Amino acid sequence: MRSLIVTTIAVILALVQVLFTSTANAEEIVVKFSHVVAEDTPKGQTAIRFKEIVEQRLAGQVKVEIYPNAKLMDDEAVIDGLQRNVIQIAAPSLSLLEPYSKSFKIFDLPFLFTSAEAIDRFQQGSTGQQLLGALRGADIDGLCFLHNGMKQISANVPLRLPADAKGKKFRIQPSSVIEAQFNAIGAIPVRAPFTKVFHLLQTGALDGQENTWSNVYSQRIYEVQPYITETNHASLEYMLIVSHTFWTMLPDDVRTNLTAAAKEACAYGNSIARDLNATDRKKIEASHYTQIIALTPQQRQQWMTALKPIWTTFEPTIGKNILDAAIAANSGS
Ligand code: SIN
Repeated sequence: MRSLIVTTIAVILALVQVLFTSTANAEEIVVKFSHVVAEDTPKGQTAIRFKEIVEQRLAGQVKVEIYPNAKLMDDEAVIDGLQRNVIQIAAPSLSLLEPYSKSFKIFDLPFLFTSAEAIDRFQQGSTGQQLLGALRGADIDGLCFLHNGMKQISANVPLRLPADAKGKKFRIQPSSVIEAQFNAIGAIPVRAPFTKVFHLLQTGALDGQENTWSNVYSQRIYEVQPYITETNHASLEYMLIVSHTFWTMLPDDVRTNLTAAAKEACAYGNSIARDLNATDRKKIEASHYTQIIALTPQQRQQWMTALKPIWTTFEPTIGKNILDAAIAANSGS
């Protein structure tokens, strides 16, 4: 808490200086957008659209610099980067937000949401909108949610049943839910940054991983994983986030335009995410590096039976109200 206060004071002083200098010299405010994925992904395209909108509407006032592929920092460092005003906007996976609010674990629960529309309904409904403000204790504001797509599980052996994963090491994001998911099937979850995944799999240090088609394609994971099981067990979701201190110190018109630009960029990213993932799936299939395994309904049922008990484990920390709202979103209520 004390370090957050010290950081906040330092950021305020830095911001006062930056904003006043900018006003006096009519200099542009620079907004650095850091992310870890490739440009031709839902998040990469969203960042580009945000920059286009901002630089059209706030020409001469705001300049957006995008740092893709973790050029500036891994996503594990972006909260700190925002708090220290090293970067001004980021879109980490919601799995990384668990240390700041337990509510975000909801998005990692396997087989919870039954469709992309259900996720949209949940995020746009009152519970989802409240989650945008769940990081205020860390001086972070959420602007909008962004989809990547459904996650698949790849490995160096064919995984048709949960038991096939027993004893295998899987790279995971730093999420206690994803950890519990792999533990539930007797596998060994290993937390590692996104930027290390290809190398860890190529060298055989790890046996498998879970991710979306767009990340598997753009990181060339399919080149070093002979099997990908189409589990569609959970969705990889992001939130565009900013420092509350930075955002509130911006001139009103700048903040209003930047917020609108972020929301429009998210809407754009969400509109292309499904197609981008479908296209990348086809490219992976056509590459013949890897075999895509479709589960039979009986096999899929076995994965669900093995993984769904995790919901009960995490219900007390996530909150029953949030879990109920997510389940209700499946039926459109
Ligand atoms: C991302 O899509 O931002 C990275 C997700 C991951 O770490 O697997």
